[in-house]
Amino acid sequence: MDVNSLPFEKIIFVCTNERAEGERVCCMSAGGGELRDTLKAMVKARQLRSKIRVSQSGCMDKCEDGPNIMVFPDNVWFSRVTAADLEPILDAVVRSLESGEPLVPPPSIP
Ligand code: FES
Repeated sequence: MDVNSLPFEKIIFVCTNERAEGERVCCMSAGGGELRDTLKAMVKARQLRSKIRVSQSGCMDKCEDGPNIMVFPDNVWFSRVTAADLEPILDAVVRSLESGEPLVPPPSIP
C-alpha cells in the first residue's frame, strides 16, 4: 500500500446512486447525474480541474434529502440541491480555496 497526500485541494462528491422504481428514492432520479455533469463543466470552464475534483459518489444514506452534495475536506453537506445552487456552491468552494479558510455555505443555502 502507498500512502499519498491528497491530489486535489477540494473534492466535491455528488451522489449519483440510482435505484429501480419502487425502491427507496435516490439522488440520480432527483437529478444527481445532471448536477454532476453541470458541476464538472463549470469547474472545467473555470480552469480549476487541477485543484477541485468533482466526483460522483454512491449512496450516502440521506436519500430522501437528495440530491446530495458533500464537499471534502470541509465536510459541508448540501441537500435538495438544484441547478441554481451550483454557482453559489462553487463560488463558496473557490472562496475557501483562495482564502485557505473553511468553506462557508452561501447564505441562500441553509
Ligand atoms: S441515493 Fe443519494 S444519499 Fe442515498
